[in-house]
Amino acid sequence: MSGATAQDDAKRAAADYAASMVEDGTIIGLGTGSTAAHFIDALIERARLGLSILCIPTSERSAERAREGGLALTDFAAHPVIDLAVDGADEIARGTLDLIKGLGGALLREKIVAAAARRFVVIADASKLVDRLGARTPVPVEIDPFGWQTTRDRLARLGATPALRGGETTPTRTDGGNLILDCAFGPIADPAALAARLSATLGVVEHGLFPAMTHLALVADATGVHRHEAG
Ligand code: 5RP
Repeated sequence: MSGATAQDDAKRAAADYAASMVEDGTIIGLGTGSTAAHFIDALIERARLGLSILCIPTSERSAERAREGGLALTDFAAHPVIDLAVDGADEIARGTLDLIKGLGGALLREKIVAAAARRFVVIADASKLVDRLGARTPVPVEIDPFGWQTTRDRLARLGATPALRGGETTPTRTDGGNLILDCAFGPIADPAALAARLSATLGVVEHGLFPAMTHLALVADATGVHRHEAG
């Protein structure tokens, strides 16, 4: 079996496990990315067998996938509290379950949905587990397009090496119309402290550090799905 297939099988196994936790009559947050797409597909299957849920998606592409599969969508006006939000991650810190998210570009809505959830469950294959966040993955930072160069310079002064996603000619736009700076910090000693500094930086809309938000991580490898509870 190829590495890519084994990795995708692990993503699907974690997603299926999470989908089996979904209870009838609940409000569900739908994440974004390839692992979250497996979760949406698993929910579509369960809904075809009679499960009744309402979903709040974290991106236009997850909304489209859910809608096409027949899942009913809702919004925060009707349901300000989500029972269970399920999403992927780019890095998961062992023990603390702090996260880096946003390589898929949906970090702002992902954080809003996770923060509104009674329970936030992360699903991933085992390659996402790390001892320390940031060693191999930059922190995606969503910024306002106005004066973005000045925001980039402020982030550089925090110790990052910021790169505009998509490049200056064709910059990537988020669903909210913002830009993303991928900020390589190297290994992050104190994710909560860095998160606070990023949040306090002028021009930053939101960042992809998710400290102390995860209740449960379902991490799958060839031996099965492993539960990591927040410590
Ligand atoms: C999107 C995200 C994704 O959850 C993250 O990038 C993981 O993606 P994948 O499941 O495809 O590995 O944060 O903004």
